[in-house]
Amino acid sequence: MTAPTHTVLEGGGFPVRRPSAMGTLMSPFLLLDEMGPVHWDPGQAIGAPAHPHRGFETVTYMIQGAMQHEDSAGNKGDLNPGDVQWMTAGRGIIHSELPQDDFLKTGGVSHGFQIWVNLPAKDKMMEPRYQDIDSSEIPKVSSPDGKVWANVIAGSTLGVNAVIDTVIPITYIHMKIQQGGTHRQRIESGLNGMVYVFGGTLHLGGKPVQDGQLGLMNDGDEVVLEAIDDDAEFLILAGPELNEPIARYGPFVMNTREEIHQAVLDYQNGTLA
Ligand code: CO
Repeated sequence: MTAPTHTVLEGGGFPVRRPSAMGTLMSPFLLLDEMGPVHWDPGQAIGAPAHPHRGFETVTYMIQGAMQHEDSAGNKGDLNPGDVQWMTAGRGIIHSELPQDDFLKTGGVSHGFQIWVNLPAKDKMMEPRYQDIDSSEIPKVSSPDGKVWANVIAGSTLGVNAVIDTVIPITYIHMKIQQGGTHRQRIESGLNGMVYVFGGTLHLGGKPVQDGQLGLMNDGDEVVLEAIDDDAEFLILAGPELNEPIARYGPFVMNTREEIHQAVLDYQNGTLA
């Protein structure tokens, strides 16, 4: 099946494409935002000033442009094209996600993704963890015929394993298939899988998934991904069905309303992070 996308403004007001089925269908993924692509004039780029998170992970992957990150745990980093920041908010973190100073000055095209990965109840209050992975450390692989290219952010594909350590088993792959190319991706049993297409048209098990659409894959399947009409560019995401209640309020994702109430109180009292 496929699901449509709508465009919303996020953070300080930057445009994102957000598939509308996220959060209801796709445990453990709570959100998938495609940030841009958007062209900023010099001095105009905006991001998200300081805000809290508790109970899940935010994963940011830049394709174009540059962002800078700073958080209450003392972490600070730049995100350049191809870099990934995997931040486990756990019991609480306050961070800012802003355009890098030089990028803000010169302007340019910004394009990237932020996904939110839920944590199981037993890990929601874990110590925050921060993995800032440079593009050069993320394994890239091509198929023998050269028609399939993958950047292996989490999980594995084409015989290559990712270097990022995830709390629960997550697959996160940026893939491109040239017209006429085919890739078989196995979704381990017990995992929910999906593709999000952001360039061209991908055929998933013979059915077209267009630019801006999600295509869902069932657990235990080996699915055939093909680029028939043109080149296709997309993300593959997979992770376990958590089967736990979700209580969600803004930047907090817990299991009960009481836990959300506590998160708000902790933030107001200055004890969240
Ligand atoms: Co954030």
